[in-house]
Amino acid sequence: MRTSSNPAPLENPTALLSSSSGAPCVPVAAVREAPQLATATVTELPVRAQLQAATETATNTQTLTQPADGATWRRFHNHGIPEYLARRYWWAYLWSVSVWFFDHAFIINTILFGNYYKLMRAAISRLDPTFDGRVLQITCVYGAFTPSMAERMPNCEMHLMDVADVQLQSSRRKLRVAKGAAAAGATLSRMNAETLAYADNSFDKVVIFFLLHELPHDARARALEEAMRVLRPDGQLLIAEYGEQGGTHLMHRVKFLRNTLEAMEPFLGRFRKENLAEKIRATATRAGKNVADVFQLPVFGGFYRIVDFTMKPATAPNAAAQSRAGAS
Ligand SMILES: C[S@@+](CC[C@H](N)C(=O)[O-])C[C@H]1O[C@@H](n2cnc3c(N)ncnc32)[C@H](O)[C@@H]1O
Repeated sequence: MRTSSNPAPLENPTALLSSSSGAPCVPVAAVREAPQLATATVTELPVRAQLQAATETATNTQTLTQPADGATWRRFHNHGIPEYLARRYWWAYLWSVSVWFFDHAFIINTILFGNYYKLMRAAISRLDPTFDGRVLQITCVYGAFTPSMAERMPNCEMHLMDVADVQLQSSRRKLRVAKGAAAAGATLSRMNAETLAYADNSFDKVVIFFLLHELPHDARARALEEAMRVLRPDGQLLIAEYGEQGGTHLMHRVKFLRNTLEAMEPFLGRFRKENLAEKIRATATRAGKNVADVFQLPVFGGFYRIVDFTMKPATAPNAAAQSRAGAS
């Protein structure tokens, strides 16, 4: 296992405390009892105790009492939760009642039009069971994806982050009953996907399961920049998402279905118009990395997709020139 007597250092802790969206980002202690991994986590921050207290307060004060202006979402816009998440998705991800409600396989499968197991199996199958390096899952998800990933790669060093403490608690409970060392030793940290608190090139694999379409355009760009920054130059970036807008799928053609989905998912429309592979290539280039290979698997007639990017280190310009000169 490629851990870590000399773990990857954290980025500048000062940067952890604010996101580019202006909201504070509050990383807290790893939530598993994993002393062998503790040095590789945010637990080393000098502000740990203070941040832990802030998170406990966030959790304990979560209520649905109506604030003075009548906007329930404001109750959830605290302790580093980005405004778009509180405003658009408090009812889906931040309220403990909805976390309980949505975190049932039957519900998730219904939301994904019966494709939940297929998507999960397809994504998991892209992960090498013998892998023993460091993997980061960017944000928690409902259902069994995270524990299944840990069970698929029992020898890996697994990290999971999310900005919502209620989600981290839920994932922690699921990992506790999952089999294998990866689940037992997983490190869960609270931070914003737009400002990850990990060092450059510190993960061999980064996995993003149905997050990107839930981010506004600029936040999505920042989250992808961060994913690419922390990914090793020869790493793997695995994404499960909605497909690009083709116009032929029934779900696109029937206006009622399209409008209902886009009312629930306000950032999905723009996301589906983007060319994800191109975006990842450009992001990789800016991070000094290259995409070596892209595997795409359409699911449900292309309404969903699994996209698996294999990276390779960028060739330094002068090295490329030298090799061309040597060949001529
Ligand atoms: C991964 S997405 C949706 C997953 C998918 N619908 C499912 O549950 O299978 C939802 C998660 O992303 C988290 N999230 C959203 N924006 C975030 C951000 N900027 N930083 C960190 N976590 C974020 C939410 O707290 C929530 O736990």
